[in-house]
Amino acid sequence: MVQVVPSILSADLARLGEQVHEAQVAGADRIQVDVMDGHFVPNITFGPGVVEAVRRVAPGLPIEAHLMVERPERFIDAFAAAGADYILIQVESTHSLYRTVHAIAEAGCRAGLVLNPATPVETLRELVPYVCMVNVMTVEPGFGGQQFISTSPDKIKRVRELAPALEIEVDGGIDAETAPLVVAAGASLLVAGSSVYEHPGGVAAGIRALRDAAR
Ligand code: DX5
Repeated sequence: MVQVVPSILSADLARLGEQVHEAQVAGADRIQVDVMDGHFVPNITFGPGVVEAVRRVAPGLPIEAHLMVERPERFIDAFAAAGADYILIQVESTHSLYRTVHAIAEAGCRAGLVLNPATPVETLRELVPYVCMVNVMTVEPGFGGQQFISTSPDKIKRVRELAPALEIEVDGGIDAETAPLVVAAGASLLVAGSSVYEHPGGVAAGIRALRDAAR
């Protein structure tokens, strides 16, 4: 079953609480907090305090903390304490990937690995037994509203072959047009920022459009 994961990156941050609540009421399966440090990606966004605020305003809605930061091992405990259910780390962001994945589990969260567009699928192999999901970035991370990378479905299929038991998430340029492509390739978690929060019909319409397109 396809799950929709709105990303708060494209929400109206002046009323973030309302926008998160809107997503929950509209049936979002999870919510993603896009954490950026200005080093791993050329943008700066949110810290653990925003995860804590999202937890308060939408109790019961699973939170993914997507750490697009250098050396994420420094922040695992802070995001776990803030209330993250899933902590997603970029395979390119630390020299101690094995240790960091285990630190996430020890902190009581579920671990996910994220691959940037240029990172080979093979990078995942040794850690497949220790994570619950893989996020295949379908844009170069850092900003919302970017163009979907058209070769992504082939990469998703190769992740599926390597790790048939893992949930595959996609993130970046996911809308009613690209959703069917990534679902057909094996993705079941659709992260969407602009196609949800900038949908002309509002958040509920954006989520519905994604679900309908993915069927
Ligand atoms: C990394 C961000 C974005 C965001 C989705 O750049 O993490 O991928 O989640 O943005 P949209 O859905 O607007 O491409």
